[in-house]
Amino acid sequence: MKQKTVQEIASLYIEYFRKNGHSIVPSSSLVPTGDPTLLFTTAGMVQFKPLFTGAVELPYTRAASVQKCVRTTDLEVVGKTERHCTFFEMLGNFSFGDYFKKEAIAYALEFSLQHLEIPKEKIWVTIYLDDDEAKQIWMDLGIPEERIVRLGKKDNFWGPAGDSGACGPCSELYLDRGPEKGGPNCGNNPNCKPGCDCDRYLEYWNLVFNQFNQTVTGELLPLKQTGIDTGSGLERVAMLLQGVDSVYDTDELKKIIQKIESLSGQTYNESTKVSFRVITDHSRSVFFAIGDRIIPDRTGRGYVIRRLIRRASLFARKLGIHKPFLFQLVEPLVAIYSERYPELSSRKEEIKNTILKEEELFLNTLEIGLEELERLLSELKSQNQTVVSGKESFRLYSTFGFPKEMTRELVLERGFSFHEEEFEEELEKDRDLSRASWKGKKVSYLTGLSNGRELKTEFLGYEASKAEANILYIFKEGKQVPSVRQGEEAVIVLDRTPFYAEGGGQLGDTGYIKGGDFQFQVQDTQKENDAFLHMGLVLKGEIKTGDHVSLEIDGVRRKNLANHHSGTHLLNGALRRILGDHVSQKGSVVSPDYLRFDFSHGKALSQEEITRIEEDVNRAIAQEILVKTEVLPIEEAKTSGAVSMFDEKYGNLVRVVSMGDASKEFCGGTHVSNTADISYFAIIKEGSPGAGNRRIEAICGSNVVAYFQSIFQVLAEKVQEHNLKVKESFGDLKVFGIHERVPSPEEVQISFEKDSTQAVGILRSKKQTVEKILEEKSNQYFKEKKKKEAMSFQLNPELVESLLKSVIKIGSLVVVKQVFDGVDSKSLKDLGDSLKSRSEDVICLFGSKEGESSTLVYMCNQKNVAKGIHCGNLLKSALELLGGKGGGRPDMAQGGGKNPDSIEKALDVTIQTLKQEWEGK
Ligand code: ALA
Repeated sequence: MKQKTVQEIASLYIEYFRKNGHSIVPSSSLVPTGDPTLLFTTAGMVQFKPLFTGAVELPYTRAASVQKCVRTTDLEVVGKTERHCTFFEMLGNFSFGDYFKKEAIAYALEFSLQHLEIPKEKIWVTIYLDDDEAKQIWMDLGIPEERIVRLGKKDNFWGPAGDSGACGPCSELYLDRGPEKGGPNCGNNPNCKPGCDCDRYLEYWNLVFNQFNQTVTGELLPLKQTGIDTGSGLERVAMLLQGVDSVYDTDELKKIIQKIESLSGQTYNESTKVSFRVITDHSRSVFFAIGDRIIPDRTGRGYVIRRLIRRASLFARKLGIHKPFLFQLVEPLVAIYSERYPELSSRKEEIKNTILKEEELFLNTLEIGLEELERLLSELKSQNQTVVSGKESFRLYSTFGFPKEMTRELVLERGFSFHEEEFEEELEKDRDLSRASWKGKKVSYLTGLSNGRELKTEFLGYEASKAEANILYIFKEGKQVPSVRQGEEAVIVLDRTPFYAEGGGQLGDTGYIKGGDFQFQVQDTQKENDAFLHMGLVLKGEIKTGDHVSLEIDGVRRKNLANHHSGTHLLNGALRRILGDHVSQKGSVVSPDYLRFDFSHGKALSQEEITRIEEDVNRAIAQEILVKTEVLPIEEAKTSGAVSMFDEKYGNLVRVVSMGDASKEFCGGTHVSNTADISYFAIIKEGSPGAGNRRIEAICGSNVVAYFQSIFQVLAEKVQEHNLKVKESFGDLKVFGIHERVPSPEEVQISFEKDSTQAVGILRSKKQTVEKILEEKSNQYFKEKKKKEAMSFQLNPELVESLLKSVIKIGSLVVVKQVFDGVDSKSLKDLGDSLKSRSEDVICLFGSKEGESSTLVYMCNQKNVAKGIHCGNLLKSALELLGGKGGGRPDMAQGGGKNPDSIEKALDVTIQTLKQEWEGK
């Protein structure tokens, strides 16, 4: 076989399918559009899911692509094997009601022979159990019968991706790499063939014959049109063609390995290869995911990316690298991939910075976390215990940022196990309590101090996010102490601070206090009198009263807080403009994730009012108004028209925050410097907290994009589930420059950047339209569901398979006898048709009971009729037992009666009749 580079293989593939009339479609984002059940794009077919099910107008009927994919199911073995990767590229060709099996097989074989130049005698194929059609096609194309292997559902039935969508039986191509690659018992053993778990036969292309649409409830409905979905792992094909044993030794991945060698000063060899491979693989997933705007986070996709970065950091440490490092691979990755993914070059700096920040965040605590784990394990060992409790593993997570899975991997390596359920329980508790716990501890810290009343912390946080300060007091468990050490929770009072203490609805800041050899994580900031209480945990070292420390708040969180606080002011202004001056604020919560605003107003807001309020706020954002703050004597502030809270007590001097004509309020909170910084505003809920007031919940900034994106994913899934046309449901999403489909995350982002007011408005109205259609549909849907459930079973290939496996043989007759619960006669007949099409000899004797009644359906093919079988006559005598009437033709008869408990007996009467006549014949 001729050596070919990864890029050459990809180009050959695309050219071949272009010549064969396929539209060449670029790789879609790693964030699947319209499928919340899928965390990442896991296969080439994912972006085409609506085309397979017929939910959209077809822009083309055949397509081909090179798709970036992430699969994380085997993440923990990545690096330890030759071929596992979390990131890979998939070559694929697709047909939507266009060509089917015959052409798909012919294309795959021709491309393998002529373009990949694989010798024909080295190709083996597998087919789904009973797919004789596929077998014949392969044989007609010259693949001998002995190189065609039948495999079951596990190997040769593919899909759906996510929990619904197109799926079907498949046929796979394998390359025979020769007996020397076989396992110790393989050699010339004839049982070693595709399906054997040795390394001799390697699958390189999967051809899926899509026939079914699996619904979220697991029903298999026939697709409106059959389709083809193929997938061939690019790295794996390269490995086979380049004659190497590992995907990590193929040309492109080798370049990353070499870069790691030069950056780390280590060589890639037997003892270091796991670390090299983990870093190589994870760097690609992280690079492409961040390229697709997935940000490391505590949940969802972001969590997976965080986990990958942290796992890579851990393995980098094994190579002696203790500094941020992964970000340095961005440069070589851009160089390798810019031909296939040119868009990545322009995002290079952003990707680098995101990775660097995340690496720094973790490396801060990695060393102490590992020491802590070490201490824990040796303690357990000394007590002859082997299980790490949920409490301990949760502490590693909450304090040192060890993802649960990383802890599992680390403790397993050392022969310990870890209590996963307990961990989850702790996590759940923490979610409920994380804030309440500090609130619950609303003890007074200062009363015990002689100067408690005068104690004052100077607040620097309007301008600064970093500062230096001195520690005045430390409290542990409510009592003043001279010092605290690693692992202890404490409350610290400083002479000055950039940390905002919760007040005016705005939550307190989080961040770090650091000094010589210690680190303190601030998890909340509260205020007692004029002193700021920094509440949190000592991550490292010992902190003493009087220490000089440096402080840094979590800037990203603060930025989100500022967005929501300034958004609250604009909302307050808009409410007064649109609803009237009677609106007065009754309370608010400003968090990094959303804002909540309670106000006096007698009745629920209409949709039109909500839209106008939103427009008003977004207009103020678009006007790029400078945010001004000034400290004024209270009387002057009042006469200036600034809005204050009626029942709040103010001092003689007050701080007034104004945003042009849009807002002017008394406020001590932290704000954006220009309304444009907020980017977008959207109301997500309107209701009442009681007492004749109204409550609005709204979101600002990038949260708005994420919010609409996630709603659209859920709606799009429902649209698919109900088999609606996307176009009819979502209509024209012109704001995104697209038609007939749900916008991708990038498209949502770009449109918001262009015109946020328009984007919010259109998305909101689309959301309402789709919800209305879905409500109508869902009534209809539930009515039909029962009917469909009964219908679907005859289409279920597994049922047909299992009935064929349990036939009763009577002489030359093959009889299927089965009693069902609550299946109507039409469905029984459909099932009979499926069985008849599978076997010429079969005679179906079906019964079904529902309530007080019973149904019988007998069916057979003409072959049996020719032998003298008469379903009508057989049925007549059976029905006597059921006290019913009926009859029919020789090949089909149906009837009904009562006595449902006697159905088995009635069918046995027929079996006896058949036995009398046919046994031995
Ligand atoms: N979608 C199929 C797979 O991923 C081709 O194997």
